[in-house]
Amino acid sequence: MPATVVVGTQWGDEGKGKFTDLLAKEMHLVVRYQGGHNAGHTIVVNGESFALQLVPSGILYDHIVPVIGNGVVVDPRVLLAELDMLARKGVDTSRLKVSGNAHLILPYHQELDKVAERRLGKNKIGTTKRGIGPAYADKASRVGLRVQDLLDPKIFREKLDVVLKEKNALLAKVYNQLPLDADAIADQYLGECAPRLEAMITDTVSLVHDALEADQHVLLEGAQATFLDLDHGTYPYVTSSNPVAGGACVGAGIGPRYIDRVMGVAKAYVTRVGAGPFPTELLDEVGDLIVDRGGEYGTNTGRRRRPGWFDAVMLRHAVRLNSLSEVGLTKLDVLDTLDTVKVCVAYELDGERFDHLPYHQSVLHKVRPIYEELPGWKTDLSAATEPGHLPREASDYLAFLEEQVGVPIRMVGVGPGREQYVHYAA
Ligand code: IMP
Repeated sequence: MPATVVVGTQWGDEGKGKFTDLLAKEMHLVVRYQGGHNAGHTIVVNGESFALQLVPSGILYDHIVPVIGNGVVVDPRVLLAELDMLARKGVDTSRLKVSGNAHLILPYHQELDKVAERRLGKNKIGTTKRGIGPAYADKASRVGLRVQDLLDPKIFREKLDVVLKEKNALLAKVYNQLPLDADAIADQYLGECAPRLEAMITDTVSLVHDALEADQHVLLEGAQATFLDLDHGTYPYVTSSNPVAGGACVGAGIGPRYIDRVMGVAKAYVTRVGAGPFPTELLDEVGDLIVDRGGEYGTNTGRRRRPGWFDAVMLRHAVRLNSLSEVGLTKLDVLDTLDTVKVCVAYELDGERFDHLPYHQSVLHKVRPIYEELPGWKTDLSAATEPGHLPREASDYLAFLEEQVGVPIRMVGVGPGREQYVHYAA
C-alpha cells in the first residue's frame, strides 16, 4: 500500500496537525520523520486542545501505531513528559514506537543552542532553543548519541564521556558557562528515562515496511516546513533537518516509490516565527488583525508570529520541491472580516518580474510583492462543512489560489475544531 506525506509549505505552523489528524482515520501507522520538540502540533478534540511536540498526531486514534522515525531528534525527558500529559488526559500511549536510530538531544545541545543564539546578537536565527540544531550537527559530525544507546549503559557512558569533554571545553572557554556533569546526565537518561522507554524502542524501518507490505496505510508526518528546510529554505534562517517530502524517505527509511500522495498544508495567509526574509510580511493593522484572530503565537515558545498575505510564488516552489499532489488550506475563517484579501502572484525587483522564487537569496530579501486584490466575503465561515456553504467571494478566493498554485485544494480549515473543515474537492 502506498504512503502519504503531509508537509508544511510555508514557514511552519500551517496547521499540519489538523489534517494529519483527519487523514489518520484511514491510516494504520503515523510516522514523524524529522525535527524534534521544536514542533507544536495542536489538535482540538471535543473542545479539548492537545499540543503535541514529539508524539505523532495519530496517538489520538486507538487504531494507529504512532512512530517516531530515525530522522527525528529525541529529548527523552520531553517525550516522557508529553506521554504523562497524554496519559493524564486519558490517552493510551502504549502503542508508541521510537526508532533506535533516532538521535538523542542531550542537555549540552540545549545549552549550546541558547548561548550560540545569544552570541549571534542581532544576527540570531531565532531558534526555539530546544537543542535541535546542535543535536543534528553532532549527528552529522558522527559524535551523536542515539536512542538505542539508552539500552547499552556502557556504550552510552563511553560516548558521553568523550563528547562531554569537548562540549564542556566549548561551554567554558568560548561561552563562559559552567560545565555539565556526566554523572547527572547519565542518572537522568539511563536511570530515569531508559527504563520507561525501553519497551518502545524498536526497529521502526522494519515496522514501516511490514505495514506497507501488509497493505496498510502509512502516513508520514512532517514537522516545520518547506521554507525552513536545511537545503531548500531561507538559509541560515532554517531548521537543521529536511522537512520537504523527500526527507520523509530518509527519516522513515522508505524509498520514494512508496509515496503516491503528498498533501501540502498552507495557511490562507502566511506566518513566520524567528528571523529571515518574508516578502509579503504585513507590518500594519491588517497584520495585527490576522495575529489576533488567528491566535498567531507560538504553541511552544509563545512568540508572536510575523503575519503576511498568501504568497503564491512560495507555494509554486513548494509544489515543485515536494511534488505536491494537493493542498490542504487552513484558517480561511481568520480572513472572514476583511473587506478585501490580497494574494502575492509574483515578485518584482528593479523592473524584473519573478514568477518563481529567485535563486539568489539577496534578491529574495529585496523583492517587492505584486498583489492581486480580491473582494472579502465578510461572512462567518466557522460552521461551513461543505463547498456549498461558502459564499461566492470565498469560493472565488480558493479558485484563484488553485489557479495560481497549480494543484487542487482538497480540504479547507474553517476553525480549530476537528470537525471544522470543508471537504473542498474529491
Ligand atoms: P530550530 O528548529 O529550533 O533550530 O529553529 C530554527 C528556525 O525554525 C527558527 O526560525 C524557528 O522559529 C523555526 N521553527 C522551528 N520549529 C518550528 C515550528 O514548528 N514552527 C514554526 N517555526 C519553527
